[in-house]
Amino acid sequence: MTRILALETTCDETGVAVLERTGGPGSVPRIMANIVASQHDLHRRFRGVVPEIAARAHLRALLPVIEEALASSQTRLDQVAAIAVATRPGLVGSLIVGLAAAKGLALALDRPLVAYDHLEGHLYAAQMAFPDEPLYPCVGLVISGGHTHLYECASPLDARLLGGTIDDAAGEAFDKVASLLGLPYPGGPAIEVAARSGNPRAFDFPRALIRDPRLALSFSGLKTAVLYALRDQVGPHQVPPPALVADLAASFQAAVVDCVTAKCRQALDASSATRLCVGGGVAANAALRAALAEMTAERQLRLAIPPIELCTDNAALGGIAFTKLDAGLTAPLNIDVQPGLIRSGTPA
Ligand code: KG4
Ligand code: ZN
Repeated sequence: MTRILALETTCDETGVAVLERTGGPGSVPRIMANIVASQHDLHRRFRGVVPEIAARAHLRALLPVIEEALASSQTRLDQVAAIAVATRPGLVGSLIVGLAAAKGLALALDRPLVAYDHLEGHLYAAQMAFPDEPLYPCVGLVISGGHTHLYECASPLDARLLGGTIDDAAGEAFDKVASLLGLPYPGGPAIEVAARSGNPRAFDFPRALIRDPRLALSFSGLKTAVLYALRDQVGPHQVPPPALVADLAASFQAAVVDCVTAKCRQALDASSATRLCVGGGVAANAALRAALAEMTAERQLRLAIPPIELCTDNAALGGIAFTKLDAGLTAPLNIDVQPGLIRSGTPA
């Protein structure tokens, strides 16, 4: 039986998890505690994450959240076999807070430090959600505020980048469009709620690159199309009526869902993998989940999407650290954060 403490501070959620593995190498850990202190209230009035505020909030929240995770899983620090922390990609100040805490714990407890990639963690969340079912090899989709990328995943640590957005991430587009429509941050959940009472065919928004043979996505033109449609309907500085907001939200969401589903279909058609694993905050979206479910069902492929609390940022993503421990991939104490790095190949 091995327990690890996992920390997640890549963006604006302070996450700490206690994860336990009772099986041997390759087996999937169980979640003993998974605590997230959200900073959404702090960033809401800026309609986006303010990096300096995020880093300071992590600093304030991290130790209490560690204590809460340990207490709720009835774990003593000396029972922890390793410290896992996401060191890339993310906001530099946010990453530094998590890594500094992880290094301090590893040093004080004399335990190995395991640095994991946030995107590999998002993909591994599907495996955490379905621990008794082997999910690799698979096609992986990470769809979040910072990324919208497709991978060919031979194993948890062997994710080859197939393609992705050439401009905004899908979550970023949700957040920006929500801001245009006067909806609160984070925009994804707000757009989803507004879209429920709207008509997804009210506006014929562009589906950029949808028929392009490359596995590329683009959302910046869609964002601009929503802006122009809004301007056509209401004058400057006028508050759009709720029915218009609902139609714009539904039509925007439908365009994102169509494009993402098409690119997943394309990736699956070109792959021998029989599973699609999806992670990242936008994977919480019910319309996207339904469209992916329909597309994979038609092809008799397995779709693995974690429950919502494992889609958005949380430290159970650090379950992938066990795979790294199995491979002897521990990190030196002088390891640094890698804010901008998108992994595209070999394990590190
Ligand atoms: O994975 P995540 O928590 O953080 C990053 O790694 O970026 O993803 C956050 C993103 C935000 O852009 C948020 O608006 C979006 O996920 N999101 C959603 C939904 N819930 C969160 N987007 C669409 N529909 C949702 N229900
Ligand atoms: Zn994330």
